[in-house]
Amino acid sequence: MEIIVLGSGNVATHLFKAFSASEGIRIKQVFNHSAASLGFFKKHTEVTTEISEIAEADIYLMALKDDVISDVAKKFSNKSGLVVHTSGSVALDALSGCSRRGVFYPLQTFSKENDVDYSEIPFCLEATSEEDLKLLRNLAGKISGKAYEISSQQRKKLHLSAVFVCNFVNHLYAIGEQICQKGEIPFEILKPLISETANKVQQASPARVQTGPAIRNDHSTIDAHLRLLDSSGENKEIYTLLTSAIQTFHGKKL
Ligand SMILES: NC(=O)c1ccc[n+]([C@@H]2O[C@H](COP(=O)([O-])OP(=O)(O)OC[C@H]3O[C@@H](n4cnc5c(N)ncnc54)[C@H](OP(=O)(O)O)[C@@H]3O)[C@@H](O)[C@H]2O)c1
Repeated sequence: MEIIVLGSGNVATHLFKAFSASEGIRIKQVFNHSAASLGFFKKHTEVTTEISEIAEADIYLMALKDDVISDVAKKFSNKSGLVVHTSGSVALDALSGCSRRGVFYPLQTFSKENDVDYSEIPFCLEATSEEDLKLLRNLAGKISGKAYEISSQQRKKLHLSAVFVCNFVNHLYAIGEQICQKGEIPFEILKPLISETANKVQQASPARVQTGPAIRNDHSTIDAHLRLLDSSGENKEIYTLLTSAIQTFHGKKL
């Protein structure tokens, strides 16, 4: 299978590394609109910053900023290969100018500097033909044991859910880290708690394992926490909103 990777960011870098280590896949070329981040790829394969220089391939893997996927895809209308994007929130229709189109969405959080276990990544796949879906299943199977056929509608909801369980939770970690820093406490102390919180939901429904002052309706603790938070900052609002959300969810009164 010959693949051309479009993009040189987080996802492009991770998929490039994973596919480079897989048998039966050749990364023929990497395209990016600017040359600055092509240095790493240049050591391993051909690179280009010109769409007109993009070669023929079986699959064009677009790991690009969501907002540009549709416009860039229009430039692939003359290609016979399968054009896929990796976004959780962009519909398959965004590639409507391409004769063969699909989605290859890895449901994981990727940062260039962090290694991930590819074998555990669920790939959410979509294509307009059974043959192309099979090709994508085959591609996902080269690096992971987990592939799901997910429609554009389902993927939007999955992505929304992922923003809650990953992006928002991570921001809450950042707030926790900041509070520790201000109190001169090592954030390290909280790490086993973070791990256990994530581990618990591997076996149980998160709704069933909620703990803390909000679900216990411990008013004095909640008031003490609110007094510790700077009233001019957003953290007080976040604390109040989440406390209220937990109590409403579990049928308690604030
Ligand atoms: N990161 C994740 O955790 C994750 C997980 C699953 C799916 N995804 C999806 O994967 C895709 C890529 O995400 P990412 O995190 O890899 O993003 P990223 O690191 O920001 O990379 C975005 C890529 O798009 C390029 N780009 C930006 N503006 C462009 C333009 N006007 N024309 C052409 N190319 C442009 C960037 O090039 P320059 O940097 O040179 O501007 C870069 O190569 C997105 O669709 C995202 O939703 C991300």
